[in-house]
Amino acid sequence: KPVVLSGVQPTGGMTIGNYVGAINQWLKLQEDYDSYFMLADLHAVTVRQDPELLRSRVLDGVALYTACGINPEKAALFVQSQVPEHAQLAWVLNCYAQMGELNRMTQFKDKSATHAHNINVGLFAYPVLQAADILLYQAEQVPVGEDQKQHLELTRDIATRFNNLYGEVFKIPQAYIPEFGARVMSLQDPLKKMSKSDENLNGFIMMLDEPKKIEKKLKKAVTDSDEQARIYFDRAEKPGVSNLLTLLSVATKRSIEDLVPEYEDKMYGHLKKDTADAVVAMIEPIQARFKEIREDQTLLNNIMKRGAEKASSQAEGTLKAVYDALGFIPRG
Ligand code: TYM
Repeated sequence: KPVVLSGVQPTGGMTIGNYVGAINQWLKLQEDYDSYFMLADLHAVTVRQDPELLRSRVLDGVALYTACGINPEKAALFVQSQVPEHAQLAWVLNCYAQMGELNRMTQFKDKSATHAHNINVGLFAYPVLQAADILLYQAEQVPVGEDQKQHLELTRDIATRFNNLYGEVFKIPQAYIPEFGARVMSLQDPLKKMSKSDENLNGFIMMLDEPKKIEKKLKKAVTDSDEQARIYFDRAEKPGVSNLLTLLSVATKRSIEDLVPEYEDKMYGHLKKDTADAVVAMIEPIQARFKEIREDQTLLNNIMKRGAEKASSQAEGTLKAVYDALGFIPRG
């Protein structure tokens, strides 16, 4: 079976943007692919984390992935730091990534602006660790939101460069970006990506937000103020409305083309209310399952153990091939 790999940083919970852009795709892919889904805790420490909080957020993440429908019997659901090959391969790949190309990464530029007091080497090398995550599993498809496209291009460049020097060590991966929902926008400023670091707390929805709060935020969502308050899908002309239609489509599992005609002579208020109802109906059962799983430490341990074992068996093989290619002598 072809391989997919993806990850989310376990920092501060998961937005509905993470769900729509990434996890919702994973659910479909786990049926047909050999799937690896990870909590990127090594990436998380590129900004300061409180240890106790990080521990609890990783467990939240494992519980939430599972509650969303990632099936630990089908997919390897694992924690990045539990598979040491990620850090090992990242070191090697650091030596095949150029300062210049990392300097061009927009995520690095953005983070250097927001974390000006702590622009550490890890932050700079972040995309190289991400390349290691992907290449270790010989992943063919990497389901991500649009903001990760540049990191995927870099991964392909590094892998190609390495292969040109040492032979076909790595599979060249592809970004798997959904047609709708690859970029869920802020509810308050639909020209900006939805992000949990937004100062405007009404701009984003967390998967673990109280249903009442979700309703409120969606009802307050900024819609587009043009002459005619018509409802149709057009990201450029109608960014706010299109964002709501995207959420409604994911939450109802209906296509946008299918939904739009129903709103032909309705008002923005209808769309907001229907979206709020649908999103709450989608999220409530996830929250209920989350609660149950999160309280079951034995279950969480078993999921992580099983995931890490499956991930390790794949990662070990690739790292060995890399070390052999480089001329490292195996320990006797
Ligand atoms: P992170 O934690 O920032 O985001 C996780 C996933 O959610 C997607 N995403 C969105 N999609 C649509 N609309 C949004 N508003 C939105 N915000 C976030 C992201 O594109 C991403 O797919 N570097 C990665 C984590 C990572 C990873 C990997 C991903 C580490 N190693 C290997 C793929 C493969 C990140 O920052 O994710």
